[in-house]
Amino acid sequence: MLIPATAAVSAPRTVIDPMDARVLYLSRADVEAVGLSMGTLIDLLERAFHEKGEGHVEMPPKPGIHTQPDAFIHAMPAWIPAMEASGIKWVSGYPANQSLGLPYISGLLILNDPATGIPTAIMDCTWITAYRTGGATALAARYLARADSETAGILACGVQGRTNLIALAEVFPLRRVYAFDTVPEVQERFVRDMSERLGIEIVGVTEPRAAVEPCDIVVTSGPILLHPHPAIQTGWVRPGTFASAVDFDSYWQAGALAEFDKVATDDRAQFDYYREHGYFGQTPVPYADLGEIVTGRKPGRERDDERTMAINLGLALEDIAVAPEIVRRAIEHGIGTWLPL
Ligand SMILES: NC(=O)c1ccc[n+]([C@@H]2O[C@H](COP(=O)([O-])OP(=O)(O)OC[C@H]3O[C@@H](n4cnc5c(N)ncnc54)[C@H](O)[C@@H]3O)[C@@H](O)[C@H]2O)c1
Repeated sequence: MLIPATAAVSAPRTVIDPMDARVLYLSRADVEAVGLSMGTLIDLLERAFHEKGEGHVEMPPKPGIHTQPDAFIHAMPAWIPAMEASGIKWVSGYPANQSLGLPYISGLLILNDPATGIPTAIMDCTWITAYRTGGATALAARYLARADSETAGILACGVQGRTNLIALAEVFPLRRVYAFDTVPEVQERFVRDMSERLGIEIVGVTEPRAAVEPCDIVVTSGPILLHPHPAIQTGWVRPGTFASAVDFDSYWQAGALAEFDKVATDDRAQFDYYREHGYFGQTPVPYADLGEIVTGRKPGRERDDERTMAINLGLALEDIAVAPEIVRRAIEHGIGTWLPL
């Protein structure tokens, strides 16, 4: 029998009778039905990055396999003792899926009981990947953007464009958003849906430059490409802007990257790992990672006119920090399917 957790962020506890071992399976719809708020999610991420900054998180750089050009399937394990959270995400990213009507990102996440290692829950990871990545942008922005930021540019209006904007709107008094996507119908849908959802003026633009120059915050969330054709040029980013590159350096020319006063990442080891694998050839060496910034070991924004950037690669600790809370709420509300191990 599985004993449900009572603590705020812990996963269901371990199995007592091995013959009666069960895991909770949460489909994509189940995870969505839990309805975890972006505000709670950002708080969980902040706690996880604080633990990372204190050196209390075990999280090896993600290994992967690559069955198609520019595609990946990554293994992302993490252990966060203070949150009693341990598990792994097995996630794929396939840029060509859009033309097949399939999602770019898909995969599964498994939580393990930290005391016994026994799996306690399996869930679809689409929601968590989409929302924790937006949440990580907002967390980085909390430290690196101007608190009065009110204009944002979203370059690529897919899943990440949406969740990054939802998260930013949670933290900043956004008044106007400029949206650009290479597919006009996707852009139009984004403008319609997001202005309705957030009550913010959203303006569709036909050139990337128009979603960069007028903005306090810029998010690039297009495909990650090993050999990109970056659009954002020197001189487009005005002083005081914060940028979040969710798509590595794919959108940024070397000269534009060199204009930033501070470039941070979420994890130096993973940044170095990707550099060794051919990415970030012209990106400045990050001055800090998000754990160092959250714990105050490294400064965030220090002046209003600084140009700052976060290159969040996406970390297992983000998924594993959020998943136990989804499981806890699912159990509380009777959501999901119990399966025999
Ligand atoms: N860093 C992280 O933690 C993290 C996590 C998840 C996804 N990602 C990355 O985020 C990116 C977007 O993922 P998604 O799930 O939103 O995919 P998606 O397919 O939902 O959206 C991608 C969008 O990009 C648009 N696009 C393609 N080229 C473009 C260009 N040059 N300019 C503007 N728009 C363009 C497409 O039309 C599409 O709307 C991917 O590169 C993915 O690998 C990063």
